[in-house]
Amino acid sequence: MTGNPDPLGWGILATGKIARAFAADLALVPGARLAAVGSRSETSAQAFASEYGDSGTRVHGSYASLVADPAVDVVYVATPHSLHLAGARAAFAAGKHVLCEKPLTLRTADAEEMVRLATEHDRFLMEAMWTACHPVVRELRRDLATGRFGTPRHLAAELGFRVDAAPTDRMLAPELGGGALLDMGIYPLTLAHLLLGEAEELRGVATVAPSGIDLDVAIAGRYPNGAVATLHASMTSWSSRAASIATDLGRIILDGDFHHPTAAVFTPIGRPDQQVVLAGEEPVIGRGYGNEIAEVGRCLRAGLRESPLVPHAQTLTVLRQMDALRADLGIRYPDD
Ligand SMILES: NC(=O)c1ccc[n+]([C@@H]2O[C@H](COP(=O)([O-])OP(=O)(O)OC[C@H]3O[C@@H](n4cnc5c(N)ncnc54)[C@H](OP(=O)(O)O)[C@@H]3O)[C@@H](O)[C@H]2O)c1
Repeated sequence: MTGNPDPLGWGILATGKIARAFAADLALVPGARLAAVGSRSETSAQAFASEYGDSGTRVHGSYASLVADPAVDVVYVATPHSLHLAGARAAFAAGKHVLCEKPLTLRTADAEEMVRLATEHDRFLMEAMWTACHPVVRELRRDLATGRFGTPRHLAAELGFRVDAAPTDRMLAPELGGGALLDMGIYPLTLAHLLLGEAEELRGVATVAPSGIDLDVAIAGRYPNGAVATLHASMTSWSSRAASIATDLGRIILDGDFHHPTAAVFTPIGRPDQQVVLAGEEPVIGRGYGNEIAEVGRCLRAGLRESPLVPHAQTLTVLRQMDALRADLGIRYPDD
C-alpha cells in the first residue's frame, strides 16, 4: 500500500449501532473511504450506504459478497461478539485486512485462531479497542510511564448503563455473547493494562442472570510495582463512567467518559498551581473512532500486520483475563 495515493477502501460488515457511529467517523478520516457495506439484508445495506457512503459506495446483501468486493482493502467486523470469528475468517480468506470489534471473540482460543488466520494469510488484524488509540489515553500512558506523575498506586474505573432490551438483543442473549464483562468490563480491564501493565492477580464478584450472563461485575486487581485496581461493569445501573489514578504524588482524573476522555488532569497534592492537563497531542477525530481508523491506515501504509497501539498480545492477554474471571464467576457461553 506504500506510495498508493488512493484512499484505503473500507468495507463495513453489519449495519448495527456501532457500525453507524464508525461510519460517521470514517467520513472524517483523510485517506479513508467507505468503499462498500454488507448486511444480511440488502435493504439495510442500501439505507446505510445512502446515509454514510458516497456515490461510489457499493452495497451487498450478504457478508460473503462484501468480503469478495475488490474495492475493499480492509473489512470492519461489527457483528455481535460470537460472530466476529466467522466474519474475520471470511475476510482473511478473501485476502482482506481486518479491524474487528471488541472483544475480538468470546474466548482466547477463538482469538488465537483469528490471529493464526491473519498470520497464515499475511493480513493485518487489530481489535477495535479505540481507547488505546485515543490521543488523551496515549499521552497519559506515555507520561505516566516516565514517572512524571509519580508512581501509580491505585486505578479505579467503571463503565455501565442500564440495558433495557429484549432478551434476544445481543447485549443479553448468551448465544451472541451477552453480558457486562465482555461488553463493558473489557474497557476498565484494558485501561488498567495500558496504564499499569499486565495484572498479576484478578478476582471478581458478579451478579449472574438466570440465563447465565453477568449483569454486574466488580473486579479487584493487583498489578506490577504494587499497584492495585478496582474495576466495575454494569448492565443494570447508570455508572459514572469515570476513571482515576492515585499516585504517591497526587491524583489523575480522566474527564468525561474514561474510555474516550476529553482530558486527563493531574493535580499534585498540596501544589494545585502545578496542575497538568493532558488534552492529547493530536486532535480527536469525530467521537474517537476516527483515531483508530487513522491508526489502521497508518499501519497498512507502513506494511505492518499489527498495530503497536493494540498488539495481538495485548488483546489476547485481556481476553485470557476475562476467560479466567468467567471461569471463577460461573459465566458460561453455549460453546464453552
Ligand atoms: N467500540 C465501541 O465503542 C463499541 C460500541 C458498541 C458495540 N461495540 C461492539 O460492536 C459489536 C456490535 O455491537 P452493536 O451494538 O453495533 O450491535 P447491534 O446494534 O445489535 O448490531 C449488530 C449487527 O450485526 C449484524 N448481525 C448479524 N447476525 C446477527 C444476529 N444473529 N443477531 C444480531 N445482529 C446480527 C446485524 O447487521 P446486519 O443486519 O446489517 O447484518 C446487526 O445490525 C459488538 O461486538 C460490540 O461489543 C463496540
